[in-house]
Amino acid sequence: MQMQDAVDLWVPKPGYLNTAAYGLPPRTSWEALVSAQEDWLVGEGGWETWAASTEPCRDSFARLIGVPASDVFSASTVSAAVGLLAASAPDNSRVLIPDMEFTSVSFPWVVHGHRGIEVVTVPLEKLIDSIDSSIDIVAFSLVQSATGVVTDLAEVAAAAAAASALVIVDASQAVGWLPFNALLADAVISTTYKWLMSPRGATFGYLSPRLQERCLPLHAGWTSGRDVSASFYGLPMDLTPDARRFDQSAAWFSHVATAPTLALLEEIGIQPIHDHDVALANTFRAGLGLEPSDSAIVSLRAPGVDHRLAAAGIRASARNGSARLAFHLYTTPADVDLALNALAGLHLPI
Ligand SMILES: Cc1ncc(COP(=O)(O)O)c(C=O)c1O
Repeated sequence: MQMQDAVDLWVPKPGYLNTAAYGLPPRTSWEALVSAQEDWLVGEGGWETWAASTEPCRDSFARLIGVPASDVFSASTVSAAVGLLAASAPDNSRVLIPDMEFTSVSFPWVVHGHRGIEVVTVPLEKLIDSIDSSIDIVAFSLVQSATGVVTDLAEVAAAAAAASALVIVDASQAVGWLPFNALLADAVISTTYKWLMSPRGATFGYLSPRLQERCLPLHAGWTSGRDVSASFYGLPMDLTPDARRFDQSAAWFSHVATAPTLALLEEIGIQPIHDHDVALANTFRAGLGLEPSDSAIVSLRAPGVDHRLAAAGIRASARNGSARLAFHLYTTPADVDLALNALAGLHLPI
């Protein structure tokens, strides 16, 4: 499907530049969600129908990042998914993390301090040079949440391979617009409520076969059984051998709405979305006299930037005088102009 045809399925009000906080659904997904909730209201349909949405989500997510679906697990949140990995890390592991990393990537390791897990933080630009044989695990966001900076996964993976370290990637700000080779990592975890434009409640993750061997299926429950319909009651526990054994029981309605969005993204393809998002972000930067950054997220720090955007009706993320603007497939050149007009004459750069 051509992107322009697909984009008509989205109906944002002008000035929505906040996909880094949460993405907007295509009408088809929203309708699927409303329809399921109408069934829920009156007791029509069955949970089996809603639960069946998990597998198309898993399959699409796997194809979108180019990994086997049998290596993909489903979780509720990124922190829960990273927590699963942290719980399986051996005592006294050393984990290298960028210092301003989103805390769903860092806190799940820090809580294991009592058993000697040590979190070492360095500025993002020193991440690759800091990977040495004392490091067991490197965990980072492929696209930084606060700044939009993209880290070169191939470089991290090469340094980690030389140091025999595992690479754990949070791709929550990347999957949906940035093409990358997920197979270079041991784990690639992404929420779906941002660039995958789905309701909050669904997270998917790739686990390399070697990491699966080392991980405890911490969230094992009835949906992790080899035969789910035979796994409701009693023992023994017979878990599925693929990555589904790491699943958390699914948030039904999230998956109902996530499945059509992911299918649509597959039809459009990530490369055209990347080109569209980055072109708009770079146009916005150029309008402010900034160099291109080739990221779909632009972060600005200047007095009053957040107030000016808000006064112009632009929805962006504002934090302590800084603003984070995100450009996705439903963003238009008119949105960019709106933001540039709101910031005309602003003293930059940073
Ligand atoms: C990089 C990154 N990871 C994860 C999340 C969400 O984490 P969680 O699913 O634990 O709420 C966010 C939300 O802003 C994020 O920016």
